[in-house]
Parts: sequence; structure tokens; C-alpha cells
Amino acid sequence: MPSVPATPEHIDRAAALLRNGAVVAFPTETVYGLGANALNATAVARVFEIKARPSFDPLIVHVFDERMLLRVVAGVPEVARTLMARFWPGPLTLVLRKHEDVPGIVTSGLRTVGVRMPAHPVARALLERAGVPLAAPSANPFGYLSPTRAEHVERMLGDRVDLILDGGPTPLGVESTIVMLEPRPTLLRSGALATEEIEAAIGPLARELNDATEPLAPGRLETHYAPATPIRLLGADAPHAERRGAGLLAFDRAIEGYDAVRVLSPSGDLREAAAHLFEYLHELDALELSRIDAQPVPLEGIGVAIADRLRRASHR
Ligand code: TXA
Ligand code: MG
Repeated sequence: MPSVPATPEHIDRAAALLRNGAVVAFPTETVYGLGANALNATAVARVFEIKARPSFDPLIVHVFDERMLLRVVAGVPEVARTLMARFWPGPLTLVLRKHEDVPGIVTSGLRTVGVRMPAHPVARALLERAGVPLAAPSANPFGYLSPTRAEHVERMLGDRVDLILDGGPTPLGVESTIVMLEPRPTLLRSGALATEEIEAAIGPLARELNDATEPLAPGRLETHYAPATPIRLLGADAPHAERRGAGLLAFDRAIEGYDAVRVLSPSGDLREAAAHLFEYLHELDALELSRIDAQPVPLEGIGVAIADRLRRASHR
């Protein structure tokens, strides 16, 4: 799909596509994002599929206004209010407690969500027309540089996205600064908004990462959310261990004898499986089972990321 100029007509078309679960690349003031409706788990799974990430990473959710913000976060602490009043719209991402409606695939199972209100007129128009919050990582394949022009997206992902809105080169060219608010204000990623400016507004930030512009390394996710229940990865054969008291996270078909079973995708569709993964892990984890057996998933496409997440969850 070649890019199209971000005219009002094309923005309308992109908004309609997004409401229907499509993935659209669009400019923000920092870099181009690869957007999907943040409240549609299957659409978000496609974002990971298109990026070909070997693992899941929490995505930044873009909102148009405060009303949209309140659909994705559970609350806004005072210090976040101060930062929003001062720096939004703009290149600052705030990590807040997530609203229960935000699917686990957006936050890779975390109970927090990264949110920002972009300043770019095309991003703003698109959010307004779409009427839904947009989960959007930078629009580059895994391991590549973030795109600052529509041509970059076209070259890297052009055959995989549904539409690319060309809004010219992005004015800032580096990603947003990320600040976590609770338990105390902490810098997670330095970025387009200078740390000094943030500290001038709310005082000193703790540092979780002083590593210039790199996002949280995927490996760090292990420290965020892992189920409390032990997870055991099954081989290709059915397990011989006691199934009573245990749960099964199945890929495409249930196995008899477990106390609780969740089937990621009865039709064997990896995208659907990814969309369900974190919700089902949370659900099984809440049942106080002795362990969760996880069936293998095919190691192709987004299945690689699912397998990676299950492997991490099983290593504790
Ligand atoms: O400027 C930007 O932020 C661009 C544009 C498109 O908005 N987006 C971007 O997204 O850089 P991405 O996916 O490349 O980086 C997202 C990073 C994650 O790797 C993670 O470090 C952090 O945001 N993040 C998101 N949600 C988080 C959460 N709940 N807790 C901690 N870190 C989070
Ligand atoms: Mg990125």
C-alpha cells in the first residue's frame, strides 16, 4: 500500500478503517506510528504481527482529549494532571493505571498503560475522526530505526499495513519521553521532551533507565507481570502429570481432566490467540490452581512472540 497524502478525505478513510479493526500508519510530532483501535485486541495483535516482534512490548495509547483518556486509564493522579496541563498535547507519555476495558495485549499484561496526547495535526484529526483511542508503536519493523517520513514506512512495511497517511517529515524525529507516575515519578525513557523541563514542573524524577533513547528492553518485561501460578510448557504430547487442580492454556483444542481450560483460538488462528493471551493468563491465574500447563503454539508469525511470552512466564 503506497502512502496517501493526509488530506481530510484520506483521514476520514483512515478513521473508518481504524474503527473496523485495520492498521494505519500515521505521523505524530515525534515519529510515524502504526495505529490500531486500542480497545480491539485482534486489531492490536495485527500491529505486533506487522512489526514482526519476537516478543510483546507494551504499546503507547494515543488519545484525542480527556474524555478519550478516561476510557483507557483508571484514574489521573494530581502530578499527572500537572504534567498534562503543562505538556499535552506533546511528546510526553505518562504511565498510569489502566482502565479494565484496555485489552491485555496493549499493555502486555501490565496493569498500567502508557498514554499520550499527540500534538501533530494529522494525528489529532485522525483521533478525532476515529473516535477511538489508538495503540501505536513506532512504525518500524522490529530492530529497525523509527520512521520519520512516510517513505520510511512505505519501504519497511508498505506491503503489510492497510493505509499510510503521509503528513510529511515528523517535526521532532525522536520518540516521546516516558514517565511513570506511581509509586513515584520515574523516567523510563528519555525522548523529545527534555527531562529538565519535566523536573522544573514537578521536581526530580527517579531514573529507571538512564539509557538514552532506548525503550525498555523487551527482557525487562519479566519484572512487570508474571502470573503467580507456576506455568509449565507442554511438549507436543499431552501431559502425563496430574491434571486435577491444574489449569490448561490450550492453543486450539482442550485436553480432558483439567480443572480450568482456556483455548486461545479454537480455529488455530495465531492472531486471535495473541489477542486472548494476557486475558486468559490473568483469568487462570486468579483461580488459585496448582499450576498452568501451556500448550505449544506454532512458531510462525506472531506465534514466536506468544511462545516467548509463555517461556518468560514459565521461568521464575
Ligand atoms: O513518540 C512516541 O512515543 C512514538 C509515537 C508513535 O507516539 N511511539 C513509540 O512507541 O515510541 P514504541 O512502541 O516504539 O515504544 C513504546 C515503549 C515501550 O517499549 C515501553 O518502553 C514503553 O513505551 N511503555 C509503554 N507502556 C508502558 C507501561 N505500561 N509501562 C512501562 N513502559 C511502557
Ligand atoms: Mg519503537
